[in-house]
Amino acid sequence: MGIRSRWYRWPSERLPPTVVEIIIAPSLLACSHARFGAGAARAGRAGADWLHLDIMDGHFVPNISFGPQVVRAVRPLTKLFFDVHLMCSKPGILLEAFAKAGADEMIIHIELADQLPSLIQIIKSLGKKVGLAVNPPTAVEPFLHQIDLLLVMTVNPGFGGQEFIRDCLTKIQQAATWRRERNLSYRISVDGGINDETGADCARAGADTFVAGTSLFGSHNLKLAVTQLRRCVRLATSR
Ligand code: DX5
Ligand code: ZN
Repeated sequence: MGIRSRWYRWPSERLPPTVVEIIIAPSLLACSHARFGAGAARAGRAGADWLHLDIMDGHFVPNISFGPQVVRAVRPLTKLFFDVHLMCSKPGILLEAFAKAGADEMIIHIELADQLPSLIQIIKSLGKKVGLAVNPPTAVEPFLHQIDLLLVMTVNPGFGGQEFIRDCLTKIQQAATWRRERNLSYRISVDGGINDETGADCARAGADTFVAGTSLFGSHNLKLAVTQLRRCVRLATSR
């Protein structure tokens, strides 16, 4: 089956920018590494919208996770949209491999500075969505008109299970203000220490896409955890 013919959720294309649907994206990193396939399938059955896949190169971040072979192996086991987060110093050498392995979106880090214009072009030329991630200490403003998703890191990247950094809420608010003022349509995603409470705080600040590892895969009932997170972030924005 061709990757482009597969159905996946990208709701902002069907909705006006003011009605952005919530996306819940379990992060596979929090799943047992011996059971990635089962975890991916479980996320689909639990009602998640996307699967977030963290790629760490041991250089950009002090940890190593997995590569395109794992993404390719997991791809047939679920129809979820694959949100591939590249925490890598030289993602350019990996983009084609991840595209062929089944990534739907590739997120690169704004800290890569000079590499960004060509990386964005390559991802677009591969027919994939472009995500841009920003670490807690980094400011973001250029490139917003060229991207599909802004990933606001709410921990310093490299490991799951860290504590949410509350200062990042200001950055989410700023990203939402820019999106509104400039009439842009990128999604605002948050990643790191997201649970029902911090997710609700991020939703109030303007986030619409919620990556969560520990709080979802660490739960006994993944389906209930996905439903509950979705309910909490919806409630937070419905007042
Ligand atoms: C951290 C990764 C996250 C991680 C989140 O560097 O980018 O996607 O899996 O894990 P939790 O939700 O446990 O903080
Ligand atoms: Zn991530």
